[in-house]
Amino acid sequence: ARSYTIAVLPGDGIGLEVMPPALRCIEAAAKGFGFKFEFRHYEWASCTYYHKHGTMLPPDWKQLLQACDAIYFGAVGDPATVPDHISLWGSLLLFRREFDQFINLRPCRLIPGVISPLANRDGKKIDFVTVRENTEGEYSSIGGRIFEGTERETVIQNTVFTRVGVDRVVRYAFELARSRPAKKLTSATKSNGISITMPYWDERVEAISKEYPDVKVDKYHIDILCAHFVQRPRIFDVVVGSNLFGDILSDLGPACTGTIGIAPSANLNPTAKRGEPGKEWMPSLFEPVHGSAPDIAGKGIANPIGMIWAGQMMLEHLGETKAAEVMMKAIENVLKNAKDAQLQGEKDLLTPDMHGNGTTEGLGRAIEEEIGRLVGI
Ligand code: NAD
Ligand code: IPM
Ligand code: MN
Repeated sequence: ARSYTIAVLPGDGIGLEVMPPALRCIEAAAKGFGFKFEFRHYEWASCTYYHKHGTMLPPDWKQLLQACDAIYFGAVGDPATVPDHISLWGSLLLFRREFDQFINLRPCRLIPGVISPLANRDGKKIDFVTVRENTEGEYSSIGGRIFEGTERETVIQNTVFTRVGVDRVVRYAFELARSRPAKKLTSATKSNGISITMPYWDERVEAISKEYPDVKVDKYHIDILCAHFVQRPRIFDVVVGSNLFGDILSDLGPACTGTIGIAPSANLNPTAKRGEPGKEWMPSLFEPVHGSAPDIAGKGIANPIGMIWAGQMMLEHLGETKAAEVMMKAIENVLKNAKDAQLQGEKDLLTPDMHGNGTTEGLGRAIEEEIGRLVGI
């Protein structure tokens, strides 16, 4: 039988709570379609590990991850005890760079059963994908402090856009747009104020658009783009943005459709092929968009759907398309039924971020069982 080796890194906070139900869901999907997982569980890439060892990762972390087909990642961060830039640059951001995961794919959908805070919803669907540049841009390590401790204290951090880096994410976004019915790409820019890097971004989008005459292209400055996310979310299909703009938009989008608790994310190296001779294997990483949520950690009320949906994206990436379809259907069915049940005063499965009083465990089980039901086991 087909078998996939998965590095399981739950991390910190609610990462530890949403991972177990998500593993059960992808196992249920695998069972239905005749494949298997070998999970390799690691407690590193967490602040707990950092407290014990003084580092976020063991020395052989790279080999351990490269021995796997994909990485399934919860969330990292315990800002009360470890500065975020230490824990994140020591784990997630390092993985994205070292494995050249230059695409961060973050779908956003209005799913029946999840209440959106947007007013005047007219029943038309919201369904777009943010394609976030994931290895350069505003997230650079170039810069520093000078004249520290003096009145002239100055801090500089450079933004880096390379031709290769911009072109590959923009081209990926065009390809994705071409594959979708609306065939539309929106570029997030700020070339009115950020006068060197952003005009360059616009130039590359414009140049590459010539290769895709069948795709409609538009661009908005990031400020008004945020406003349009709230007021006209239906006009979007594929939205491409730099590392920072993509980060912001991918929390804003899911907040507009209901909650960041359901938002998934695929950090992809789309060109890597396992076992390619002479080339280092660079696994992709799948994670929820949200973080470790210290404010609700330990309460058992985190929404597990972001983690489960990220697992669905992992199955898709592994080529298990049918299993991925079933997982998505199960998520949709459970959300819809849960809302109906809630309205009828029956057992409430929806977690508090979806205006219910359900639990991580309860909602996770319901999705796991629905997957089982759909695949007939
Ligand atoms: P966060 O995403 O952890 O939480 C933001 C808010 O959303 C909180 O109120 C939280 O309770 C809520 N929330 C998040 N996920 C939820 C879920 N699944 N169900 C219900 N509610 C949920 O963002 P933050 O508070 O800015 O960051 C907390 C820590 O996580 C920091 O250390 C940060 O650096 C880190 N972080 C890590 C990742 C990651 O590992 N990928 C992503 C974002 C933030
Ligand atoms: C995300 C997160 C990370 C990012 C943080 C935790 C460094 O917000 O994955 O969206 O900014 O990329
Ligand atoms: Mn983010």
